[in-house]
Amino acid sequence: MKVFTSIVDLQNELFQVRHEGKEVGLVPTMGALHEGHASLIKRSVKDNGATVVSVFLNPTQFNDPGDLERYPRTLDADCKLCEECGAQYVFAPSVKEMYPTPDTRHFEFPPQSTVMEGAKRPGHFNGVCQVVSRLFYIVKPNRAYFGEKDWQQIAVVKRLVSYIGYDKITKIVECPIVRDADGLAKSSRNTLLAPDERAIAPHIYEALKKSVDYAKSHTVKETHDKVVADINAIDGLEVEYFEIVDGNTLLDVSNWDDSNYVVGCITVYCGKTPIRLIDHISYTSS
Ligand code: PAJ
Repeated sequence: MKVFTSIVDLQNELFQVRHEGKEVGLVPTMGALHEGHASLIKRSVKDNGATVVSVFLNPTQFNDPGDLERYPRTLDADCKLCEECGAQYVFAPSVKEMYPTPDTRHFEFPPQSTVMEGAKRPGHFNGVCQVVSRLFYIVKPNRAYFGEKDWQQIAVVKRLVSYIGYDKITKIVECPIVRDADGLAKSSRNTLLAPDERAIAPHIYEALKKSVDYAKSHTVKETHDKVVADINAIDGLEVEYFEIVDGNTLLDVSNWDDSNYVVGCITVYCGKTPIRLIDHISYTSS
């Protein structure tokens, strides 16, 4: 496996890879890799002759400087995991390499980019679009892999891809969420939880799971309120938002039959710092 920090060096290598007739898969990440990321990388390795994992802690998508400062940085371990998963390339550029001058482009794709995380973290999806578009221009992947853990991010990236005219170049591959054995969605931020915080965090998915049954005999509003009450009843957890939405537009639904694809998206503050944990549940049986 090769590690590149220079855009030009990576592009020269990929020119050769394409010359050999191989397709290229891209797995964009911010590092601190875990089994959730590994599942995306393995999927790309299976689908493509060459896989590039980008490891770049993108400053433009952090609206909270404390969050960026705390974010775990583990490049050596990340490279090891990429190699174990069979990736051929890691792209780990510096901030200067990715943004030689400040990125002044502004991306907005309402409603997907403006609701939920978009409303709570102003500028977040603009930064995601800035970096993902740059990565796409650099790598020109045949396929790019994103996790359903970040449900809203996938909806925004799909809008971005057609906006920049990459819908015929790069296929967005959606990969299922990977959880710890106790149900907590795997996240790079989980390592920041103190043991007592880690112990209460699984209540989030537990409440979501329980609500699927509850929803069968209750309204959308009743189900919403029950999830919020169940989670807020746990000392150390506080719901920032829980929205029951159409899985594609991400607009709120008022009745279960308003959409044939209903998803509940949640963000919860956990512990003293606090750490923001996100999760989702589907109310539509597939
Ligand atoms: P990051 O949080 O590092 O996640 C990289 C990719 O891994 C995302 O597509 C995310 O949805 C996926 N992922 C993370 N945890 C997962 C889990 N438990 N199960 C399945 N997939 C999981 O998301 C970002 O980075 C950034 O916003 C990025 C797209 C790289 C742009 O900077």
